[in-house]
Amino acid sequence: MSDIWRNAQQAAFVKQLENALQDSSFKRVTFSAKAKNADKFKASFDLVVGGSKKIIKHEASHLSDAETLNYDPQAIIALIKAEPYAGFRAATLFTQDKDFHYTENRKGEPSFYPAKATMRDVVQTHNKPKNYLLSENRPYLRGLGVADQRGHIIKKYHPKFRQIANFVEIIDRDIGTFVETADHPISILDLGCGKGYLTFATYDYVAERARHTPIGQGIDIKENVIDLCNEIAGDVGFDGLKFINARIDKNQPKNVDILIALHACDTATDDALALGIRADMQYFFCAPCCQAEISRQIGNAGTTFDMVNQYPLMRRRQADLITDTARALMLTALGYEVKFLEFTPLEHTAKNVMLAGKKSDKIDRAKAWADYLELKKSSGFEKHALEENLRDLLG
Ligand SMILES: C[S@@+](CC[C@H](N)C(=O)[O-])C[C@H]1O[C@@H](n2cnc3c(N)ncnc32)[C@H](O)[C@@H]1O
Repeated sequence: MSDIWRNAQQAAFVKQLENALQDSSFKRVTFSAKAKNADKFKASFDLVVGGSKKIIKHEASHLSDAETLNYDPQAIIALIKAEPYAGFRAATLFTQDKDFHYTENRKGEPSFYPAKATMRDVVQTHNKPKNYLLSENRPYLRGLGVADQRGHIIKKYHPKFRQIANFVEIIDRDIGTFVETADHPISILDLGCGKGYLTFATYDYVAERARHTPIGQGIDIKENVIDLCNEIAGDVGFDGLKFINARIDKNQPKNVDILIALHACDTATDDALALGIRADMQYFFCAPCCQAEISRQIGNAGTTFDMVNQYPLMRRRQADLITDTARALMLTALGYEVKFLEFTPLEHTAKNVMLAGKKSDKIDRAKAWADYLELKKSSGFEKHALEENLRDLLG
């Protein structure tokens, strides 16, 4: 403990302040009570964020006006170690994570204790919103009910907007150059498109950047959402975008540049991928969902993983991994460079694994196929819908 401080608790409070200033969790600190040589002493230091610069607004009973100080942890601590500040008998430190209180009772007995953060929300309002590629005021977001008439995202749709915006960022990284340089109308196919959030966003992204008006199609078995999506596409002038009420596996388009299949249930993902491969897709973005087919086969398959698979929850998790790895290996065996990524925060959906890829001629297709056969044997499944769908092309 430094000589300046009357007790260990006061020293601990100042140490906490120093830490908060240094790790940038600091929001505000107030000092009060009678300090030596200064009646009714009061002082406060508040964080102010001005553009990219942090500054401190300082007020104290012995100063006639508020002062502006540089955000300099050492200088602020040096100030507090001097009179009249050093004589404080009560103080509260507000940080992003917790508040901290120091008090002395009438007998001068000190206490120092943490409490729940009370400035957290206030400070978060200063945070600059993430600057997404997708702007909030795109007209179709209003039509889909994600944004209000003024083009502001409706509060309960913030997670949905973030999911759509994240998706646009992902496709931008992978297809940006292709979209800007393609010398033909780019075709986009979204299978199991639901309400078409990603279909609209992808069409919009491509239409804004490509040389030609894209050809977009969303396909879903739900008639009511298809009608709504066609109405919105008409209203916002997306002439090349059509929604079709149909089953995935009943469609046979000729050429697809960009295939999207997010959360198509169970083997509908395999139907979508198989369709994309037959339509010579160049890029695909696919988020699998409920991989039940493999789960049914690996429960008691006589492999070393039976000990894992005897527990239903573990078996389902294991089936997810095997199903999607098998998809990746088959896609590689068919000439696609494949990767896995997490595409949306877990708080929005636990189903956030995305399988993405592009056609490539620099692939060891034979090795991928051998790996697939080894995976099949070692994990104990016999049937995989993607293999069944593409039997004539694989091997
Ligand atoms: C969970 S939703 C996902 C919607 C959208 N892709 C998204 O991520 O926002 C799955 C959609 O797939 C559709 N679907 C499931 N199986 C299908 C099939 N065989 N053919 C066409 N649509 C299908 C459902 O009607 C549903 O709208």
